[in-house]
Amino acid sequence: MLIEFTLNRKRVAVEAPPDITLLTLLRDYFNLTGTKEGCSVGECGACAVIMDGRLVNSCLVLAPQAAGSEVITIEGIRGPDGGPNDMQENFITYGAVQCGICIPGMIMAGEALLMHNPNPTRAEIRTALAGNLCRCTGYQQIVDAIEATARSREGNR
Ligand code: FES
Ligand code: FES
Repeated sequence: MLIEFTLNRKRVAVEAPPDITLLTLLRDYFNLTGTKEGCSVGECGACAVIMDGRLVNSCLVLAPQAAGSEVITIEGIRGPDGGPNDMQENFITYGAVQCGICIPGMIMAGEALLMHNPNPTRAEIRTALAGNLCRCTGYQQIVDAIEATARSREGNR
């Protein structure tokens, strides 16, 4: 079937079977491999993308459900110069990245949070990350990186 939607701010159309997930569509049909496959059953958040302004686990979304929607993946998160944005830079600065498998999903969760709550408390950041598992970092540095991003964006308003 033909699936048309907006992907990282560009209109796209793709022929794909109706029974694949959005995760498979992104990775295998658009080669957007920044979105990771961890558990495949909605438990880990490695596959998280932003769909119509909401964080979703793309392994739980059927590809046809994306029709007409606006999807942002980690490849759509960029700074003004096309390089890493401030959130991505802060993940590096705060040592929030180890193996990296969870990180695209963590950044999408952080961005989704700041879209709706630009000045979150640390507790709110932790709650926003509740669906994203990290086996490496212990979460502290990830929370630090998102908090620093929120504070600097607030300061720049
Ligand atoms: S791969 Fe989708 S939640 Fe784990
Ligand atoms: S950095 Fe390895 S799972 Fe999070």
